[in-house]
Amino acid sequence: VHEIPDSAQLAELADLLDKRLGIHFAERRWRELERALAAAAGELGYPNVGSCLQGLLSAPLGRRELEILASHLTVGETYFFREPETYRLLETRILPALTREKRGGYRSLRFWSAGCATGEEAYSLAILLREQLPDLQDWNVTILATDINPRFLRKAAEGVYTEWSFRGVPARIRESYFTNAGQGRCRISSDIRRMVAFSYLNLVEDPYPALTSGTNAMDLILCRNVLMYFDTARMRRVIDGLHNCLVDGGWLVVSAVETSASLYQAFETTCWQGVTVYRRRSSSGARPSAPGAPPVTAVESTDLAALASAAPAPDLPPIERPVDLVSEAAAAASTAATPDPREAAKALFRRGLYAEATEQLGPALARDHSDPQAMSMMARALANQGRLHDATEWCERAIAADKLNAEHRLLLAGIQQERGQSNEAELSLKHALYLDPELALAHFALGNIARRAGRLAESDRHFANALSSLEGHGAEDVLPEPDGITAGRLREIIEAVTGARPAP
Ligand SMILES: C[S@@+](CC[C@H](N)C(=O)[O-])C[C@H]1O[C@@H](n2cnc3c(N)ncnc32)[C@H](O)[C@@H]1O
Repeated sequence: VHEIPDSAQLAELADLLDKRLGIHFAERRWRELERALAAAAGELGYPNVGSCLQGLLSAPLGRRELEILASHLTVGETYFFREPETYRLLETRILPALTREKRGGYRSLRFWSAGCATGEEAYSLAILLREQLPDLQDWNVTILATDINPRFLRKAAEGVYTEWSFRGVPARIRESYFTNAGQGRCRISSDIRRMVAFSYLNLVEDPYPALTSGTNAMDLILCRNVLMYFDTARMRRVIDGLHNCLVDGGWLVVSAVETSASLYQAFETTCWQGVTVYRRRSSSGARPSAPGAPPVTAVESTDLAALASAAPAPDLPPIERPVDLVSEAAAAASTAATPDPREAAKALFRRGLYAEATEQLGPALARDHSDPQAMSMMARALANQGRLHDATEWCERAIAADKLNAEHRLLLAGIQQERGQSNEAELSLKHALYLDPELALAHFALGNIARRAGRLAESDRHFANALSSLEGHGAEDVLPEPDGITAGRLREIIEAVTGARPAP
């Protein structure tokens, strides 16, 4: 017998899902919601949709419920080199420009696949880099891939795919980067797998940019086929957050259906060969460029190596200092007249105006050499611009000025990790824990380092320590700087990473 769920209850659940996951179910989609609930009910321990609805609404939604609901409500549809024209653009223009700009200096490249589902997008990018950069080993490359659905993340980390993921992938690519895993499945090569770090991040609830999640100072963010789940207000917030995660001149790539004339006004919009991408504007004026660069050549090849040789990589258009940023900076400068430039810098920092925050702090720090908090903010603002060398210096100054402060060491560890200095980061974290053994974020970071190095038993120990340090905190307590993450959130992230299940 088909039972008709109470529509007031459906509305209440739709509201909850909107708030917690950003998944928006308008009334016309309630049938779909009902079907998803019917599929999830058994797994959630209910005999039917009605009791499931009742149960979910009777107590706050826990992580386990959210995870199960997310896995039935989110669509993980993805495949390698999806929307190939976007990869062509990456290959022929964006990556060559990024690598050319950085070749002379510190060779680091930071990418983020936000809403990565089962990992095909992040691995496609890794393969592209392998194909494109013969001296890849000389670069410090980060590819972060995050999703809200831990099942997808587990599958992604496993790296085993069926035929369905390979629609349109050239045979040569498949032969070079995959091995046969039996039963018609293919396993991604370990070289490529090691290039990608998967982790749990809810774009609606979690803070970013954050050193804790490594979401700062990105050169390129792929956030494709994710924003379309969100309503406009939430889209705006997510786009704003992603904007703040980019370095000046960094790129945001969304899917063709997610482009918009109104939502990306903080960015410079560029369109090549029908693909629209967004670029964070420079806060310190236009960068060098070759005006009148020839347009990208249309390339029809299906082989990535052929693509690489077929298309020259002309210079990118300039990025201009936009009017709105100029006026924002001017408004901020007027606050410089207020007695506390640190407060002005903090406000600028919160709005993602890191270069302006640095400008505020510079003169203040020149006047007053004894303000470790300002030094640490300077370090964070520099780190978020990708200026890791300068960030390290300011962080070390903060440590020298306040030797007993564990949080400065935690910050230093985050910066060191971004520089690819895991050993140094581990030492800084141990030092931080010596000063404050209950610093949960330091245990957490040690757990992440050990996990990435394959030392799983050790990482579980660190995560257990982090969880026990969190015991003294209420779920809504915001943990000490730098990132503003709450204790409850960190607990959920650790549980998602370790696959630990809270008691049902
Ligand atoms: C259709 S897939 C897109 C995969 C890939 N980016 C692509 O374009 O092929 C959408 C992904 O967004 C994830 N997602 C939905 N809401 C999210 C949220 N609030 N935070 C993070 N990820 C979310 C889903 O779990 C799903 O894996």
